[in-house]
Amino acid sequence: MTQVDTSKKIILITGCATGLGKALVEILSQNPNYKLIVTARAHRLELLRTMFQESQDLIIRELDVTVETNIFALVNEIANMWGRIDVLVNNAGICYRSVVEHMDRESEMIQLETNYLGPMALIRSVLPIMREQMSGHIINISSVSGMVSMPTMGSYSASKHALEGASESLWYEAKPYGIKVSLVEPGFINSDSFKNILLPKKAKLSAKLRGPHSEYYLSMSPFVESLMKWAFATPESIAHKIKKLIAQSNPPLRLRVTLDAKVFSILRKLLPEFLFHKVMFLLLPGSRLWGHRSYFGNRVRAKKLNSSSAHA
Ligand SMILES: NC(=O)c1ccc[n+]([C@@H]2O[C@H](COP(=O)([O-])OP(=O)(O)OC[C@H]3O[C@@H](n4cnc5c(N)ncnc54)[C@H](OP(=O)(O)O)[C@@H]3O)[C@@H](O)[C@H]2O)c1
Repeated sequence: MTQVDTSKKIILITGCATGLGKALVEILSQNPNYKLIVTARAHRLELLRTMFQESQDLIIRELDVTVETNIFALVNEIANMWGRIDVLVNNAGICYRSVVEHMDRESEMIQLETNYLGPMALIRSVLPIMREQMSGHIINISSVSGMVSMPTMGSYSASKHALEGASESLWYEAKPYGIKVSLVEPGFINSDSFKNILLPKKAKLSAKLRGPHSEYYLSMSPFVESLMKWAFATPESIAHKIKKLIAQSNPPLRLRVTLDAKVFSILRKLLPEFLFHKVMFLLLPGSRLWGHRSYFGNRVRAKKLNSSSAHA
């Protein structure tokens, strides 16, 4: 039978090779009272091993959060090895940039599987263990996009809104068992993660060929990138806040960890909805030009159609 050592918190983290996940492992691994399960997809394992030394208190494992059988196998392994799981940090995430019209089913599924379905599978697999031990803390890394949706970020926002909704339900369901649930909501983070932005085929083509909606990409992409470049918040500053969250005996359901996240949450509460969206529309760069290119494209197409039907 597994000898259960309750003197150290067992913490499972996803997506640890870069950005926030990496910063979190760097900070949490300094605490001798923690045992970490540091995970990443297969192609990042070597990098992970060069960054972190495996020890009694830190193990490195492959985990793609979209592969449910691997999730259950890993959680089983932890339960057999250490007998408990105290904290799950659902950090792994991806972000598609696309207007709604350019997304395709396959890209929608990849977005949702990574940011919502994967975290849900992880939660489902650790919950029975946490219920049994009558304690635990589930930390889901959400985003400002879990409370506000911006153009070209519909699918990403949907995945974070889904995560927010389910986490709120879980808060009620887990509370009687002493299990805490927290949503960490960062705004823009000063990191390289904008380099990992994904574009579906139609969005790539439109941006390249200046097709309909290309003006959205041309205005939103540099805007988001510059906000990330100039943001005060770093993966390290956010990791420090998550470290404090883990140590809290009564952690909040929502933790806004950047200034812009706090401002957006206040604006959403204070402004009537119609005003909020009007102000946002006016403030977003290039919004006065949105629709002009597609309008132009449609006009040319309509003209061509008219002239070809006239020749017929
Ligand atoms: N950066 C921001 O401005 C920002 C703002 C708000 C919220 N967030 C959220 O913060 C979290 C961390 O993002 P970040 O800024 O640190 O970006 P990041 O550097 O791109 O980190 C995301 C990590 O998730 C991993 N990942 C992607 N798909 C995976 C999968 N199927 N299975 C396991 N791991 C996977 C990536 O690894 P691979 O190399 O294998 O892809 C990467 O290491 C995400 O949930 C993100 O949505 C970020």
